[in-house]
Amino acid sequence: MPKKSDRIEQTPVVTPIVQSTTFIFPDTASLIDYQRGERKGYIYTRYSNPTIEAVEKKVTDLEGSDGSLLFSSGMAAISSACMAFLKSGDEIVSSYPIYGGTAQLFDNLLKRYGIRIKYFQASDKAGPERSISARTKVLYLETPTNPNLQIIDLKHAAKTARKGKIISVVDSTFATPINQKPLKFGIDIVIHSVTKYMGGHSDIMGGVVSASDKYLKGIYDIRKLLGGCIDPHQAFLLDRGMRTLSVRMERHNLNAGKIARFLKSVDKVKRVIYPGLDSHPQHKLAFDQMDGYGGMVSFDLGSKKRASKFADSLKIVKNAVSLGGVESLVSIPIWTSQYGLKKSDLDRSGVTPGLIRLSVGLEDSGELIDDIDQALKKAFRV
Ligand SMILES: Cc1ncc(COP(=O)(O)O)c(C=O)c1O
Repeated sequence: MPKKSDRIEQTPVVTPIVQSTTFIFPDTASLIDYQRGERKGYIYTRYSNPTIEAVEKKVTDLEGSDGSLLFSSGMAAISSACMAFLKSGDEIVSSYPIYGGTAQLFDNLLKRYGIRIKYFQASDKAGPERSISARTKVLYLETPTNPNLQIIDLKHAAKTARKGKIISVVDSTFATPINQKPLKFGIDIVIHSVTKYMGGHSDIMGGVVSASDKYLKGIYDIRKLLGGCIDPHQAFLLDRGMRTLSVRMERHNLNAGKIARFLKSVDKVKRVIYPGLDSHPQHKLAFDQMDGYGGMVSFDLGSKKRASKFADSLKIVKNAVSLGGVESLVSIPIWTSQYGLKKSDLDRSGVTPGLIRLSVGLEDSGELIDDIDQALKKAFRV
């Protein structure tokens, strides 16, 4: 039996999962204090929860923002962040290409509520100035873009938005806060689908918004009403993923660079797109605004048939949508993210029938290159 009766005050190494929907108030007086905003506390997990808040704090530290809000998916984060600032008659100016779900949100759902959308090509630096009108409330950007890995000049875009008194929003999912910190360049709001690199293990759905307090209040209110909050268990898994984010990103960056250079050395591969290659039209911009070029590589095999033969011949790399996990995945955009788009929209997205998008994982780079090499040989026989 211990001699001293007092229990030692201890905290766990790992953020505990508080899997409770509701929280007990010791008395009605404290509940009233909470409701009046005089004391902090928890009332209901859709509003907030200790696990969720602890993980939000970690994202906040990474992004260098005032705060962050976690959501049940990247789409919940994007839709809530946009809806917090838009009303009927307003306009979004957005870079293109953007993630297909975001494009559908803008083109179909928000349009039903009287919100207009205007696009500009992501690689067109003057696109925001040319597109912004008196009705524009949000400048929406995604960089690097999916799947053609174009880079948007964040400093310039942020300056343009400030001048026009509109809110700038960046989906930085492909980069992660390790490779790119948009707020540093004057961007107002940064969003990630944490389903990808930040979770990192292809086992959770989630999204996050980081910004200054003046923007977060409105987004928080929308999260409460639309109910897109993350579940505490998902937040816990995100926390676990984020513990290795910087080492994973280091390896993603390294492996993708090696694979891009290997693909570039294969004469028959028509076009290799990777921001880290000198041949990338915005390599200098990527060098200036990113701390790493990321784990995504796209390249063109020239035909639909060759693209499927390549994907079907891979042994280590698996044919699946999504990205950012420890395992390498291959995706053929015309059959996945850009499926069903008209030829003109495919052209606008830089998507050709033979385009391949690789999410390069953490496997041994030599083994990955051998796998890609043998699949290329088979693809070039058809
Ligand atoms: C760049 C980007 N943003 C947002 C999303 C949407 O995220 P989620 O699937 O977590 O809703 C995706 C999904 O693929 C994406 O690639």
